[in-house]
Amino acid sequence: MTPTWVRLAELAAAVLFILALKGLSSPKSARRGNLLGAAGAAVATAVAFFYGQDFFGGPVKHLPLIIGAIAIGSIIGWVAAKRVQMTQMPQMVALFNGVGGGAAAVVSVIEYLSAGSDESTASLAATVFTVVVGSVSFSGSILTFMKLQELMTSRPVVIPAGRYITSLAAIATLGSAVMLVVNPSDALLYALLGLSLLMGVLLVLPVGGADVPIVISLLNAFTGLSVAASGYVLGNVLLIVAGTLVGASGTLLTRMMAQAMGRPLTNTLFGAFTAKATVASGTSEDRPVKSASPEDVAIMLGYARKVIIVPGYGLAVAQAQNTIRELVELLSAKGIHVDYAIHPVAGRMPGHMNVLLAEANVPYEQLKEMDEINPEFAETDVALVVGANDVVNPAARNDPSAPIYGMPILNVDQAAQVVFLKRSMRPGFAGIENEVLFDPKTSLLFGDAKESLTKVVAAVKGL
Ligand code: TAP
Repeated sequence: MTPTWVRLAELAAAVLFILALKGLSSPKSARRGNLLGAAGAAVATAVAFFYGQDFFGGPVKHLPLIIGAIAIGSIIGWVAAKRVQMTQMPQMVALFNGVGGGAAAVVSVIEYLSAGSDESTASLAATVFTVVVGSVSFSGSILTFMKLQELMTSRPVVIPAGRYITSLAAIATLGSAVMLVVNPSDALLYALLGLSLLMGVLLVLPVGGADVPIVISLLNAFTGLSVAASGYVLGNVLLIVAGTLVGASGTLLTRMMAQAMGRPLTNTLFGAFTAKATVASGTSEDRPVKSASPEDVAIMLGYARKVIIVPGYGLAVAQAQNTIRELVELLSAKGIHVDYAIHPVAGRMPGHMNVLLAEANVPYEQLKEMDEINPEFAETDVALVVGANDVVNPAARNDPSAPIYGMPILNVDQAAQVVFLKRSMRPGFAGIENEVLFDPKTSLLFGDAKESLTKVVAAVKGL
């Protein structure tokens, strides 16, 4: 019989996890949510640690090794989280997620090897499921980390006959998994481990550019499912609760991201097998563009009635959130109406722009979601695009061969004037040319967004 204090602590941790998710759903309460989640994890770990018998079928063994591992893991996690830039967050999530999936798979391999033939079929099935899904999540996440960290190309990699190899590997994985449940064999288990790791690689290789963050979210959901299954194997209620929460929220997030990008998930995963080579060569294009000085931009803004700011990934890279707030305050003091247009996938992770601007104390009422603000561009004097590109690219509307085709965009091309703050003519994350840059009503202020904005602020003050 499990003692009451263990059950109560488990219940408390489960409630903390749920409250954490609730808190994370809004930028205002996100910090609190995060802390609640961390507290839940601490309670769960402490219970598992101090009440070892219930979790691992015997008193805790290898105590020095466990304490050493906890210490090393905590130090690595702490240092990594302290050092990571906001813009590197997706690869950090990918890495941590992969490690979680890998851990679930390793636990299940050990369980399988030590279980013997007395294991029930349901338990064997859950063990094998964890091995497969955890390993796919591990190798897939490591590959997405490498893509985002630019340790390899972030473009889709299509190997010859890739779709046939993937299909064959999937059939072999499924077949071995079924055989392992029906007829346990250690050698086949290792083969399944290898096949599952290969599946993770094959699934992620053809995914590129703008789709990589969606795959991270999908793999995150996979890790949740494998953790829940390993909870079943180990008889650990908390792993089942936490894994199910991660699986469900990861699945929802994946769906929401795919929807925000206007394409089905199958297209994200397998689009590269059918797509033509669409990556633009337009970067070397020699068409003329109109460049502007900070003073020109200050005059355009200072004499406008209505301005919409479109923040993007470059704003985050430049850490220009405070400078943009200062500019908006100056313009508002002159009686100019200013709003921020927030695209759901601006930046590199969900809510990236909201978090960034909240950090700079931008009032929430000034942040307008895409559907709300889009009709307003037509009556806007200046759309100021700060380090954004793909989310304002009309190719998403009218070029079926573009990788972002179908993604709803912010209609900056409908504003009377458009100003882009960027450093060069390089394209955005999706790697394609943006026609708005060449529009006669568009001006470009080249340079780092923070430096450019600082100069524009000074020039507006001098008007
Ligand atoms: P991007 O299209 O990547 O454009 C960013 C722009 O910022 C680039 O044109 C770059 O041009 C400029 N830039 C970079 N550093 C800068 C700096 N220091 N100062 C000034 N400009 C700088 O970004 P976006 O418009 O925010 O679009 C987001 C992309 O991520 C989309 O493709 C989206 O699909 C993808 N994505 C996002 C998510 C989420 S959830 N956010 C999920 C999946 C995919 P220069 O290099 O010339 O400066």
